[in-house]
Amino acid sequence: MKTQVLQSSDLNPAVLALKRGELVAFPTETVYGLGAPVFQENAVKKIFEIKKRPADNPLIAHIARLDQALFLSERLDGLFYRLAEAFWPGPLTIVVERKKEVPPIVSANYPSIAIRMPMHLTALELITRLDEPLVAPSANLSGKPSPTRVQDVLEDLDGNIPYCIDGGSCLIGIESTVISLIHKQPTLLRPGKITKEILEEVLGQEIRVPQKGEPALSPGMKYRHYAPKARIRLVFKKDELKGNVLIPTAELLYMNLREMDRKDVEEIVVYCDEKVRKDAALMNRLLRAAGQIL
Ligand code: TXA
Ligand code: MG
Repeated sequence: MKTQVLQSSDLNPAVLALKRGELVAFPTETVYGLGAPVFQENAVKKIFEIKKRPADNPLIAHIARLDQALFLSERLDGLFYRLAEAFWPGPLTIVVERKKEVPPIVSANYPSIAIRMPMHLTALELITRLDEPLVAPSANLSGKPSPTRVQDVLEDLDGNIPYCIDGGSCLIGIESTVISLIHKQPTLLRPGKITKEILEEVLGQEIRVPQKGEPALSPGMKYRHYAPKARIRLVFKKDELKGNVLIPTAELLYMNLREMDRKDVEEIVVYCDEKVRKDAALMNRLLRAAGQIL
């Protein structure tokens, strides 16, 4: 079976496939997702198999309307609604307590669930037509850079899923910010385009960042990630630059890493100038890709 690429004007086959329990890759404003309906346990199981994702790494449920969050959690507090109002639809994922009706495999048996309302119109329409939250991790093989274009999805998953919906290049290019509300203090689990400072301003309180050595609060963060085949070397001084030099931006990082891998380069030298160093989300992905933080 070859994976068929669908235009966003032709979602019917994708909706039917999802209803049958098959997986569909679809565009979001951050990266492409690999979707399955939240209440179809067997389909959710396939996500872990096809991505080769460790079984202890929970997934994000994507919704198209705020009231769909009520299917996922019965404990939505004022902080949740404040964040939802300020940032949804958009690149923010909120972790709350999971409702017992939601299959535990969705969140790898954790009592919590991660929820996000994406901004991409195709993603929103797909979820609306399915009429059920859509569980989706990034549509890559576990450990590889996340896919920001159809060709990236196909590079990793062609033949293993029936459909990939074409939404062009993802505008943001790195994964959503993840904030957890299940601890006493809101906790930043993954930096992203929506920064800690912006979140603090909206919540009117400080957000905690887990310290090094603390048991991984976000299970996904303990794996090597976003890594191309080539070795990555981060360089902070201009005069140390030579070889295949990449000047990274969040929007193009994963695309650039994949492109360089296609050229089979052995080492990618990444120049981290002041602007890059100030971008917490970009630095987080770079350090992980270089294997310098786990
Ligand atoms: O931008 C995104 O978030 C993309 C698009 C497709 O929406 N999705 C994405 O999913 O990046 P994934 O599975 O690659 O990353 C999900 C992250 C992981 O670090 C995971 O550990 C964390 O969210 N996460 C999910 N559920 C969680 C939970 N219940 N508690 C703590 N962390 C959770
Ligand atoms: Mg991922």
